Amino acid sequence: MKKNIKVGIVGLGAYIPKKILTNKDLEKMVDTNDEWITTRTGIKERHIAASDEFTSTLAFYAAKEALKNAKIKAEDIELIIVATVTPDMQFPATACLVQELLGAKKAACFDVSAACAGFVYGIVMAQQFISTGCYKNALVIGAEKLSAVTDWKDRNTCVLFGDGAGAAVLSSVDNGGILTSYLGSDGALSELIMVPGGGSKKPASKETVDEGLHSIKMRGNEVFKLAVKIMSDAACKVLKQCELSVDDIDCFIPHQANKRILDAVARKMKVPEEKIFFNVAKYGNMSSAATAVALCEAYQSGRIKPGHIVVLDAFGAGLVWGACVIQWQK
Ligand code: UT7
Repeated sequence: MKKNIKVGIVGLGAYIPKKILTNKDLEKMVDTNDEWITTRTGIKERHIAASDEFTSTLAFYAAKEALKNAKIKAEDIELIIVATVTPDMQFPATACLVQELLGAKKAACFDVSAACAGFVYGIVMAQQFISTGCYKNALVIGAEKLSAVTDWKDRNTCVLFGDGAGAAVLSSVDNGGILTSYLGSDGALSELIMVPGGGSKKPASKETVDEGLHSIKMRGNEVFKLAVKIMSDAACKVLKQCELSVDDIDCFIPHQANKRILDAVARKMKVPEEKIFFNVAKYGNMSSAATAVALCEAYQSGRIKPGHIVVLDAFGAGLVWGACVIQWQK
């Protein structure tokens, strides 16, 4: 088996559902207002999937675009990883459902549950398979229908989240590619963000529904402080691993949770604002899809050019976090 093959991202795609939910719309649903949401989160609107759109549907559209961008056929994909905390169902894996929609008959498929860091986890996992020569082409998708697990009566959380999907095709590259990565977790902090019901601990029942256990519970302020520290530490760590500094970053793509978190990370790391990609105002927090969609939009808008140093940096429920440095191939 060959080793240490360079692996890069050779195609990107995204899909955002049409329906927009604005801060003004939320004012009619809970005791909140546009001014609070804008100043505390930077979010102005988020998109909500239609009732006949599922996580697999969003993932499929994003994947189709990424394959087209990579000029690779679905039948040449050997691995599909879907990062999601909102799978279509407990099993089978959403990745298998996407495989069927794409007609990617040759692919091995599985889901990754690493919340908002799931796309970065997926990228790093796919890289291992390709760098060892096990597979040639992999598809990594971050896809979420968070509106399905949002408590639309809880103003602490419902203003934050949105639906969407982003996808990347990974293959071997001649130069650049993923230079280094770092993944971390701390299960001691698992209670900070969770959907408590519906699993083997609290299977769905009338009681779990009555107690609202099938929607997101979050201790936002504690998560906020940890996000700033962990995301800046993770980004600094990967830069150090490949002997680069903050000055070498051309495009910094952090998980789009809250503009204030991203501003605090930028201040801590001393990254100039113009090097950071922001789209949280348009989409809110799309968990695993957020970093994937941000990467796709940064690329499509010309913010990422051949040779550029791109840093992906994500953090979420688990707690889990992950960062990687990619040199965009020439
Ligand atoms: O993706 C990774 C996981 N998630 C995150 O990274 C999210 C991390 N956390 C956050 O983004 C922020 O903590 C929030 C945006 C959730 C909250 O901002 P905060 O500055 O941490 O506010 P807070 O939780 O300390 O609450 C301040 C006040 C409270 O009122 P009192 O108790 O001071 O009277 C809340 O009840 O703001 C109130 N509040 C709201 N007011 C209007 C909370 N949500 C709302 C709301 N509208 N939607």
